[in-house]
Amino acid sequence: MKILGIETSCDETGIAIYDDQRGLLSHVLHSQIDLHNVYGGVVPELASRDHSRRLIALLNQALSQAKIELKQLDAIAYTCGPGLMGALLVGASFATSLAYSLNIPAIGVHHLEAHILACMLEEKRPQFPFLALLVSGGHSMLIQAERIGDYKILGETLDDAAGEAFDKTAKLLGLPLPGGPKLAHLATQGDATKYHFPRPMSQKPGLDLSFSGLKTFTRNLIEQHGQAAQTKADIAAGFEQAVIDTLMIKIRRALKQTQLNQLVIAGGVGANAKLRATLKTFAASTHTEVFFPRLEFCTDNGAMIAYAGYCRFIRKADWNYQIQAHARLDL
Ligand code: KG4
Ligand code: ZN
Repeated sequence: MKILGIETSCDETGIAIYDDQRGLLSHVLHSQIDLHNVYGGVVPELASRDHSRRLIALLNQALSQAKIELKQLDAIAYTCGPGLMGALLVGASFATSLAYSLNIPAIGVHHLEAHILACMLEEKRPQFPFLALLVSGGHSMLIQAERIGDYKILGETLDDAAGEAFDKTAKLLGLPLPGGPKLAHLATQGDATKYHFPRPMSQKPGLDLSFSGLKTFTRNLIEQHGQAAQTKADIAAGFEQAVIDTLMIKIRRALKQTQLNQLVIAGGVGANAKLRATLKTFAASTHTEVFFPRLEFCTDNGAMIAYAGYCRFIRKADWNYQIQAHARLDL
């Protein structure tokens, strides 16, 4: 069975083909970073237009990489939310029309469920139930994943998402898009102990998170200490360490609370090298097994949509040719 996956929820156009016998047959991606960089952030209208410009070429590329033809597809999965409305509508209309013309199912996939399942594309896969840390540009959550479609949110951010905090702090430091990786790179040249960032919400019970204070803390540091190269690197390192320490405090708490011993990392911030190294050390010193998607499947991609669509399809999920797009959508 071959499933096409289409991701267009934000600023990446991703297409992939997943085969239940052979695994991932192809995956292609176009990032809009250069398009949005001049504006200092994602411009929704430009994002939609660029998705519609790229989809057909990327589809042809994915088919030729997989060495299959359109008529060999068994279903088409697409991101139906959450995300930018216009961007979602482009992918949803494209996927639904294509599925209709081929007389095969069109399956709307929840973007966050797809992130959580991205680790299943790797050789080392978790078994349900597991704890998932989902840290992306729009969401930061700790989730108890019981089975496909059954997710309990244990805690989430009360304000900025972890990736959003990386992006906004990077902007304060005058770094170009993509803020997260650029800040992480700068942090490698800094001293994380120079400035004492808070570990937000760590003193409060529970599993909720909050990152907007770190951005304000950064703004104050810049006002006090200026923007010399080494100062910026030290701020970046201190900020990154504060996010990682805060996440680790909540992860430990969630594992204890749930008694789970498998931890899945999902979402763009999961690509952060220092976070990954910290988690590997943590796994080695506890009874917890940690599962990561490869770097390119932490950030948005078509492969996770194809795989999540496959999981939904074999569970006989409802499908129809209604074009589904929801800017906000509960997990
Ligand atoms: O999952 P994703 O591609 O998109 C959403 O669904 O939001 O996540 C993008 C986020 C951005 O905020 C980006 O800055 C962050 O992930 N990110 C990183 C790194 N790579 C991407 N943050 C920190 N370190 C990284 N290496
Ligand atoms: Zn995402």
